[in-house]
Amino acid sequence: MAVNSRYDLKLLYSREEISTVVNRLAANISNDYDGKDLIIIGVLKGAVIFLSDLIRELSIPAEIDFIGLSSYGDGVTSCGEVKIIAQPTAPVTGRHILITEDIVDTGLCIEGLLKYFSAFKPASIKICALMDKPSRHQVPVEIAYAGFTIPDKFVVGYGLDYAQRYRYLPQIYTLEEVSDEGQLASDD
Ligand code: IMP
Repeated sequence: MAVNSRYDLKLLYSREEISTVVNRLAANISNDYDGKDLIIIGVLKGAVIFLSDLIRELSIPAEIDFIGLSSYGDGVTSCGEVKIIAQPTAPVTGRHILITEDIVDTGLCIEGLLKYFSAFKPASIKICALMDKPSRHQVPVEIAYAGFTIPDKFVVGYGLDYAQRYRYLPQIYTLEEVSDEGQLASDD
């Protein structure tokens, strides 16, 4: 995906579809963590909108915190190597951590985050991801709470960006490259 190309947005998931999935995830999390000391860690910046909606659907108390990873050039590539640029401030030792991600692509970010948080000896660490691209995984990733399973497409909106654009959009779109003739270059 070239930074200088032109793109069109194609709707992938509507607000209604997103909220159905968020409600399902929140119900499962509420059920599984009832009575446990839960801390939900949002991965900046992409997971902010998802986390905000998710926690408001929980029926159990949870603390929230955030972790910032380094940005990756034009925004279309994945972590490759995880560099933490903003550390969480809340103590996590002995607590149940739920890492909340916007999307799992290669799985390398999650792998790095699991390694980082394991060092603090939490009671447990699990992953909640709004979207997953299983065909792109480079490492095994166990997603305890998975929203949408999507094909190998670049998606934006609902917190996800392309070069810092489109995060504010309330729905999720695929980014489709436009050919010179103005046609969608994608085949669907
Ligand atoms: P991973 O380490 O390859 O799994 O990368 C996950 C991170 O890459 C996500 O948290 C996003 O920041 C970014 N990313 C991967 N795929 C997309 C996408 O389709 N749209 C927007 N960001 C993406």
